[in-house]
Amino acid sequence: MQKILVDGGAVLHGEVRVSGAKNAVLPILCATLLADGPVTIRNVPRLHDVRTTIRVLAELGARVGDEGDGVVTVDPSTVHSHVAPYELVKTMRASVLVLGPLLAKFGHAEVSLPGGCAIGSRPVDLHIKGMQSLGAEISVENGFIKARAERLRGARHVFDIVSVGATENVLMAATLAEGRTVLENAAMEPEIVDLAECLIAMGARIEGQGTGRIVVHGVERLHAAQHSVVADRIEAGTFLIAAAMTGGRVTVTHARPDTMDAVLDKLKAAGAELDCDGDRITLDMQGRRPRAVDITTAPHPGFPTDMQAQFMALNCIADGVSVMNETIFENRFMHVNELLRLGADIRIDGHTAVVRGVQKLSGAPVMATDLRASASLILAGLVAHGATTIDRIYHLDRGYENIEGKLSALGADIRRID
Ligand code: EPZ
Repeated sequence: MQKILVDGGAVLHGEVRVSGAKNAVLPILCATLLADGPVTIRNVPRLHDVRTTIRVLAELGARVGDEGDGVVTVDPSTVHSHVAPYELVKTMRASVLVLGPLLAKFGHAEVSLPGGCAIGSRPVDLHIKGMQSLGAEISVENGFIKARAERLRGARHVFDIVSVGATENVLMAATLAEGRTVLENAAMEPEIVDLAECLIAMGARIEGQGTGRIVVHGVERLHAAQHSVVADRIEAGTFLIAAAMTGGRVTVTHARPDTMDAVLDKLKAAGAELDCDGDRITLDMQGRRPRAVDITTAPHPGFPTDMQAQFMALNCIADGVSVMNETIFENRFMHVNELLRLGADIRIDGHTAVVRGVQKLSGAPVMATDLRASASLILAGLVAHGATTIDRIYHLDRGYENIEGKLSALGADIRRID
């Protein structure tokens, strides 16, 4: 079992390149099933979840070429199965995103119900309702979603609540449905815009992506295409918080600052100086201690839930008291107990955490519980006095490409140990 060892105290300086977005490349890989020729995807991050998704596509019969330099080509013309097995879906709930493409392209799909995960039960009822709006017959039995449809028909569909995955699944299905589909109360995340742009490159007719109302005109078929994955705004935000917490000066490159307004605003409120120049974002803390900042997570363009744990690490050592509300997931405070072990002062009341900034944290052995919680523990370790070891870092490898390599290049004393 690998662990990460961090010796706190280094002030981070330098440049770090941001990888392609995990939460864009996963739906985009699933979307390749819709094409009748090979789709080449560039800027693919080296992540465990990407490897899992590639295994799901291969399991369905697609030919997947991973050139290794961040370029992956998927040829779906050899797909022979329409069943996404539990063994794979249970390890990554995003596998449910093959449902829409399989249903739209082949007329039927069997996808294992994804288990819950650490941060919440994570149902897929909104995905199912969306497919039913497009005319699919769906039954849920023996732990499987079984969907059939001769030909999906375009429809107007209002999502009960904003859901990134459900918006993506129904958007993909609608591209091959007969007629016009209007999706209301759609999620507006930049990763959905990126998915839509990939689908448009494949011949789909989509408008309104990035707004709450997406309109799709169904087409007969989608063709081969190329697409480069948008920069990962969560990875970028994580490195900027590392710079702010250590009082350093860091530039993230190959980023998309236009997708990060809420996070950049909160970093400014914490006292950071920020300069955006094209795809480069420079944060300079000039050795200052961050100020405490209140956070309430919300669907895009609000403050992303995927940055809540990381910003809590900053608030743990900030000057002042902050109130943090997690409104998206029901159980996304599991990093709190581990931060308390490092000497943080946090009190939870339901979906709200009150964080009193302390002068210093002290290193200790801690345990990762989910992807973004692992990142927050690494951030806390960067400033804690002494050594912090983080266990169960397989969570981390799902969503961060070589985080310890990137952080040590910025001056952090961090390494992976067996
Ligand atoms: C995506 O998950 C991301 N994952 C998550 O990132 C991210 O936290 C989340 O969107 C919110 O931004 C990927 O893109 C692969 P939702 P998703 O559907 O699509 C409820 C990370 O760390 N809901 O927008 O699963 C759900 O329980 C991961 O990178 C239903 O009730 O999130 C949640 O409370 C974690 N029924 C809320 O909606 C449904 O059918 C928002 O979830 C679907 C969702």
